[in-house]
Amino acid sequence: MNTGNSEAGDETSGLPHLALESPLRSRFLTVADVGLVRDLFVRCEDYFQILTGAPPRENEALLLFEEGIPPEFDPGVRTIEGIWAGRKLVGLLDALRDYPDDRAWWLGLLLVDPAVRRSGIGRATVQAFEGRALDLEYDSVELGVVESNTSARAFWTALGYGETGVTRTVQFGDRTHRSLRMMKPLYPQSA
Ligand SMILES: CC(C)(COP(=O)(O)OP(=O)(O)OC[C@H]1O[C@@H](n2cnc3c(N)ncnc32)[C@H](O)[C@@H]1OP(=O)(O)O)[C@@H](O)C(=O)NCCC(=O)NCCS
Repeated sequence: MNTGNSEAGDETSGLPHLALESPLRSRFLTVADVGLVRDLFVRCEDYFQILTGAPPRENEALLLFEEGIPPEFDPGVRTIEGIWAGRKLVGLLDALRDYPDDRAWWLGLLLVDPAVRRSGIGRATVQAFEGRALDLEYDSVELGVVESNTSARAFWTALGYGETGVTRTVQFGDRTHRSLRMMKPLYPQSA
């Protein structure tokens, strides 16, 4: 199993890996990693309970890789990255470049293994993600968080993300949520 962090980055997207400090490393994931992702999803059942009211479905990890992006998008704009602490997959970051506009990067999902939460892995991952977006001259990072996910909202707020006021209704399994769009400008705002 390759948990390495090759210098080249990702062949499909052409992106460099996240600049993380040892022992954290990132690697772009493919469907070949579905078993590792399934195990991580099972450990992160709390997140799926909030979202859907149930544990992750048997094929949840496969769906992550197989769910398409709209045809107008270049397949390379979607990236799924794994975060390793040593040899263990401890997190996952699913993102869409040039969305909702070509100056922004959308964070679809950030997941950290409950066993290592509150140890700074989420913060380090997002900061590395923002640093890469800044290097590539993006203006902002945006995301949607369901209103009832209070710990995630506290996390994003602590990292400098603010609510945009844009909301939408989303359905996961039997649960209906209000999803709040949050955003962080990557450049200091001019007065
Ligand atoms: C949200 C999540 C990614 C945070 O990852 P993490 O590695 O635990 O976060 P960090 O340790 O880097 O926390 C950074 C800061 O965020 C805030 N924070 C994180 N988790 C928090 C919580 N449960 N309650 C309140 N504040 C929290 C704190 O200010 C924390 O700093 P501190 O620990 O020094 O007080 C993680 O809890 C997770 O995977 N949750 C389930 C999936 C999820 O909800 N993802 C977001 C979907 S939008």
